[in-house]
Amino acid sequence: MSYDVNNYSLQQALTDDRNHVWHHLTQHKPLEHQDPLMIVEGKGMRVLDAQGKEYLDAVSGGVWTVNVGYGRESIANAVRDQLVKLNYFANSAGSLPGAMFAQQLIAKMPGMSRVYYSNSGSEANEKAYKIVRQIAHKKYGGKKHKILYRDRDYHGTTITALSSTGQLQRKDQYGPFTPGFVEFPHCSAYHSPNGGDADFGIQAAQTMEATILREGADTVGAVVIEPITAGGGVIVPPQGYMQEIRRICDKYDILLHIDEVVCGLGRTGKWFGYQHFDIVPDIVTMAKGVASGYAAISCTVTTEAVFNDFKDDASDPMGYFRDISTFGGCTAGPAAALENMRIIEEENLLQNVQLMGAYLQQRLEALADKYKMVGDIRGKGLFQGIELVQDRASREPVDESVAAAVAADCMAQGVIIGRTNRSFERHNNTLCLSPALIASQSEIDEIVNAIDAALAKIA
Ligand SMILES: Cc1ncc(COP(=O)(O)O)c(C=O)c1O
Repeated sequence: MSYDVNNYSLQQALTDDRNHVWHHLTQHKPLEHQDPLMIVEGKGMRVLDAQGKEYLDAVSGGVWTVNVGYGRESIANAVRDQLVKLNYFANSAGSLPGAMFAQQLIAKMPGMSRVYYSNSGSEANEKAYKIVRQIAHKKYGGKKHKILYRDRDYHGTTITALSSTGQLQRKDQYGPFTPGFVEFPHCSAYHSPNGGDADFGIQAAQTMEATILREGADTVGAVVIEPITAGGGVIVPPQGYMQEIRRICDKYDILLHIDEVVCGLGRTGKWFGYQHFDIVPDIVTMAKGVASGYAAISCTVTTEAVFNDFKDDASDPMGYFRDISTFGGCTAGPAAALENMRIIEEENLLQNVQLMGAYLQQRLEALADKYKMVGDIRGKGLFQGIELVQDRASREPVDESVAAAVAADCMAQGVIIGRTNRSFERHNNTLCLSPALIASQSEIDEIVNAIDAALAKIA
């Protein structure tokens, strides 16, 4: 028996994995006869599997996480130094990296003020929901407790995060769900009969207002949305939509919670996705790219007004935010996040995302000219979706096996791309690209050329 992972044969690792590891989002029957994919090394945008095959990773670690790329020694060193100095103390106490990262983060989020640390996107959203629920109890006799979420958005894997998720297949077989979460319609112009209308953004936001009025505005405490729907098919909100959502929330005294778990920290070419729309939210959650997967960290960020609701009456022993996050006190997270943020700034990665994102979009649009199967190209920055359809006029989606075949062909060519997967009954048909923010033009070319070759075979 050894504990030395550096002296562990890859064959033994594959055997042990097959015998004992339960992988996320994976049907394991085929693994009785074949080895799982095991990624053993990464540098920049490339990873190596256990067989020594190299891949260009166009999805930043599979789920849009490794924003600054693999093999960043400076992040590893920052984490190591911090762990040797102090690895952990419960977050009721402060820490040096926790304080510094909060200050740096807030500097990039005008209007926001306070940072609450935890470890995953789901958990960050749960904290936000608890904040909303407790405000309902403190200020509105418990009545204003409902949280509206949007069809197609995803907010996480726990039962309550799933309760606020607008993806039926993701939720299927995991109910019953937490009460008090109410869905309103999506804002995808491509999937709406009136999507071509000049004021579609306003119309789409007003479906939320109709939902508020149906439920009773005095029962609704918050609305949670993604700035760009990610796993739901890369849906960019239409013109005017986000501003109208903000206006409606203000009108009915409803908190606006933006889930930046995917878009946060540069993915769309600004620090945060909502910053494309000239709005200030009340609550922002983030996770994946905060430390690019070098440590587990998530943040629930609020305005000072939200924070004050928990501070102002010190005579109430139950009145402060009584949430606990054990691992919110791990110092590796903010230490990694600080270095991650420094890299984004020093290497001008936001600018790179804008330039390379425009190039990626332009190359994908050329694919749309070439293949009738490419129904729509959507996205912002280095976050793009390619919706595959059977027929452009009807926009009838291809079967998910077609999107799976395109992704598998790219994989065989050595390029890892993503796709909507087990989210909806009919719309698991969008290929997703989210390469690291460091992507170069030649790497974008490699990604698009692989998709081109795959479509040439399959279309
Ligand atoms: C928009 C969004 N919110 C929340 C989550 C949940 O994050 P986690 O898997 O870290 O719990 C995800 C994960 O994909 C996500 O895409």
